[in-house]
Amino acid sequence: MKILELKNITKIYGKGDSETKALAGVDLTIEKGDFCAIMGPSGSGKSTLLNILGCMDTPTSGEYILKGQDVSKMKNKQLSKLRNQVISFVFQYFALMDEYTVFDNIMLPLNCQKYPYKEKKDRVKYYMKRLGIEKYAKKKPTQLSGGQQQRVAIARALVSNADIILADEPTGALDSTTGEELMELLQEINESGKTLILVTHNEKVAEKCNYVIYIEDGKIVDKLS
Ligand SMILES: Nc1ncnc2c1ncn2[C@@H]1O[C@H](COP(=O)(O)OP(=O)(O)OP(=O)(O)O)[C@@H](O)[C@H]1O
Ligand SMILES: [Mg+2]
Repeated sequence: MKILELKNITKIYGKGDSETKALAGVDLTIEKGDFCAIMGPSGSGKSTLLNILGCMDTPTSGEYILKGQDVSKMKNKQLSKLRNQVISFVFQYFALMDEYTVFDNIMLPLNCQKYPYKEKKDRVKYYMKRLGIEKYAKKKPTQLSGGQQQRVAIARALVSNADIILADEPTGALDSTTGEELMELLQEINESGKTLILVTHNEKVAEKCNYVIYIEDGKIVDKLS
């Protein structure tokens, strides 16, 4: 079953002389339960593509159908509602709230969900444990290393139970052992039925995915499984 579809998506930043075509006509279909890696050189448009998939940014032209709904025609409020229900995002630079503790950062996506606090707390604790960060629960992100912050960002993305998890270089700041552990966790999450799309520069990470999409100069140039 198709979970999302991009049709001839373009993204142009800036105007006139400073214009950059970050995406130059991308067609992409992702099926429910896919585990997909996006690879390509720096500046090829990977983060731009992921941001559009995650409804964090809007395309300049083209059509985006997410779970049967035309996102390109949605108003902001409707769009953020759909995004909150359907998508979790691990940002390239984590985007943690510095003034919140690790625990509260991971709890954030659950604040607006309506089920008992005890269950929310247990979910947060479960993912802190899975990612080996339970001992930092009361610390602030700025007191942690890059790799530790990355694990907090990943726990925050996993806790919300969204259908689609998007991650920009999720293993980028991790040492190889922690990176491998994270990939095992992501594989498990994928096997439980979630759709995962991740950007990576790492061949070993890409190998764990079901297939790899290669992007160059804002275009998909290859797909290998
Ligand atoms: N907000 C922005 N304003 C202007 N240009 C931008 C903006 N974001 C990205 N770009 C440009 O769009 C192109 C694609 O950028 P993008 O961040 O998608 O690349 P990337 O493949 O993720 O690179 P990296 O591997 O370095 O993270 C680049 O030329 C970049 O300079
Ligand atoms: Mg990027």
